[in-house]
Amino acid sequence: APISAPDLTTCVPASKPDGSTIDCCPPTTTTIIDFELPDSGPLRTRPAAQDVANDPEYLAKYKNAVEMMRALPDDDPRSHAQQAMVHCSYCDGGYPQVGYSDLEIQVHFCWLFFPFHRWYLYFYEKIMGELIGDQTFALPFWNWDAPAGMYIPEIFTDTTSSLYDQYRNTAHQPPKLLDLNYGRTDDDVDDATRIKENLTTMYKQMVSNATCHRLFYGEPYSAGDEPDPGAGNIETTPHNNIHLWVGDPTQPNGEDMGTFYSAARDPVFYSHHSNVDRMWSIYKDKLGGTDIENTDWLDAEFLFYDEKKNLMRVNVRDSLDTKKLGYVYDENVSIPWLDSKP
Ligand code: C2O
Repeated sequence: APISAPDLTTCVPASKPDGSTIDCCPPTTTTIIDFELPDSGPLRTRPAAQDVANDPEYLAKYKNAVEMMRALPDDDPRSHAQQAMVHCSYCDGGYPQVGYSDLEIQVHFCWLFFPFHRWYLYFYEKIMGELIGDQTFALPFWNWDAPAGMYIPEIFTDTTSSLYDQYRNTAHQPPKLLDLNYGRTDDDVDDATRIKENLTTMYKQMVSNATCHRLFYGEPYSAGDEPDPGAGNIETTPHNNIHLWVGDPTQPNGEDMGTFYSAARDPVFYSHHSNVDRMWSIYKDKLGGTDIENTDWLDAEFLFYDEKKNLMRVNVRDSLDTKKLGYVYDENVSIPWLDSKP
């Protein structure tokens, strides 16, 4: 059977890697609404973060939206604090599985990774649109898969902006080139070599190593299964490496981006995941990838608060087509690794 949506009333404090715990439980409500795909609505086009650096109108909206989220009371499920806690609860043992109270729900290291984060960003984006009164507002994606995007997007590094987060690696500020295989040490490689390595990594993870569903999506994970059956290629590299690369190594758990409970406190998290999500779209639209047909995947469920503070129950099936969710990725951004066959 598929993993069912958690029962929010059973939420327990989440565990940090250092052994301490943190309460990330969301507000509870007795009314749960089953999500229905919208019939129509404006299409949101997610732009590359590098491309909006010189678009004052877009930037003003984005900063304003995050500022408004930050200003909401901490118990408003749409607040930036609560949005960050969504990740904390779903990823650090906040929810027991319904019917298997000794097993936790873990959306990483398994086939729920892509759909969970797609839904998470979907609601985050809708909340932003609602707060600024613009239903066409779309999150930017950090296009770390192309040379032009292989550093922290500058829009996140202005210390006076709502997009800034103080807990990041000071040695990895732009224009420091991103290492998609980063493993906690900075090795000395010249930029041209690094770019080549990064592109080769992208090709491997998206094409040569993505020869079956398990390798791309991650291992099956159904009700009653132990968590962490195994991550897909992209989740492992570069997704995890980028989290580590951004987080502050002087913090106890590599906060913010370097550990689950705090990763989504950093606004760059959502742009990072927007590009992870874009990789899923590219896999299907450009590389002939298909959806998993197993109903334990298709019918797996999650809960999220929407832009009206309603608690919505969603499933994997409804996440498969971004157009049905009302968004697409800017197609004019180059994908150079598509022909970086090593
Ligand atoms: Cu839920 Cu990037 O991790």
